[in-house]
Amino acid sequence: MPASADFVAQSFSEAFGSEPSGVWSAPGRVNLIGEHTDYNAGLCLPIALPLRTYAAVRLRAGSVLRLRSLQSPEQYELELDDVRAGNPPGWGGYAAGVLWALKDAGHEVSGLDLMLDSQVPLGAGLSSSAALECSVAAAVSDLLDLGLFGDDQARATLAAICVNAENTIAQAPTGGMDQSAALRCRAGHALLLDCRDGTVSQVPFDPSAHRLSLLIMNTRANHALGDGQYAQRRASCDEAARQLGLPSLREVAVGDLDVTLDLLSDDEIRARTRHVVTEIDRVSQTVALLREGRLPDVGPLFNASHLSMRDDFGISCAELDVAVEVATTHGALGARMTGGGFGGSAIALVPTDSTADVTSAVMHAFADSGFSAPHCFAVTAGGSAQRES
Ligand code: GLA
Repeated sequence: MPASADFVAQSFSEAFGSEPSGVWSAPGRVNLIGEHTDYNAGLCLPIALPLRTYAAVRLRAGSVLRLRSLQSPEQYELELDDVRAGNPPGWGGYAAGVLWALKDAGHEVSGLDLMLDSQVPLGAGLSSSAALECSVAAAVSDLLDLGLFGDDQARATLAAICVNAENTIAQAPTGGMDQSAALRCRAGHALLLDCRDGTVSQVPFDPSAHRLSLLIMNTRANHALGDGQYAQRRASCDEAARQLGLPSLREVAVGDLDVTLDLLSDDEIRARTRHVVTEIDRVSQTVALLREGRLPDVGPLFNASHLSMRDDFGISCAELDVAVEVATTHGALGARMTGGGFGGSAIALVPTDSTADVTSAVMHAFADSGFSAPHCFAVTAGGSAQRES
């Protein structure tokens, strides 16, 4: 049974003995370009996926949280006051963390009963965790009348609260792109997010107008941001900015890259810096092309982005490289890994007529390499979080 607002409401009633106050949903995201730029105050360009996480919620009189998910046998029941770094563990931390972060931001919150159901594949680099956080945050904001699930400015505040939940309670040191995508994207558009000042602009993104499709290739290779690699990349970027005496790598103009790299202490830090600075520039170039109606010309930027992540940032893996290479040799205009890296998904911009060929070539190449079968599917740019019922 695919997740839906009705089904999660029914599951809530079965689990807790009465109906939820409502159902809210938030989407997963896929980033078109601009990877590991968010925590460098840079630019990124995600779209919201048509795949969503649904949260059925009812507030409780006391301060107990009862958390359930149709994706997991784990159930949590705990006091709001017991929510802290690492507690509850697992997915419970993402849900309970939102309540903790709302409180941390000065809001009065209460206990709740929660049932989750999700269409967003877990561990695929498509931000199932941000979809979870944002669906819960939207529900709590509405039910407590916090006014944080309203216009874009309010949603920006709510996104920051969800980031705090993820960083502090779930202890994943991520940037802010995913939560902004889940709360601020618009259907048919990519979201240009400027992480220096939090401003966004909506960039039309409609591959079908060019007879193109955006194909997601979920490699099913292990994707875990908590294993320290993500944090290491973030630390290298912070160190580079420190050595340059800048608040962030965003301040390095791409035209000054060579002279800037000469100022850094070693080759690894130079490579990490080169990725971030060139990637931010690729986002700007992509947006300019999209605004000129030149989507097909974005392909080479996707390819350059992938090489930069593979060679300079060191976050690709064999499965992602095979997916990207096979897609581009079978007709994709461009392809790149997307998200945090070390597994998860790649995307390809493919002529719609060639989607089946590309998918089959990738499936065969994975089988030949002894990898698990990937899951390939085309997506359109969906809308952000909303109240369902
Ligand atoms: C993960 C993080 C984001 C971002 C991407 C890489 O998805 O959650 O904040 O850093 O990786 O672009």
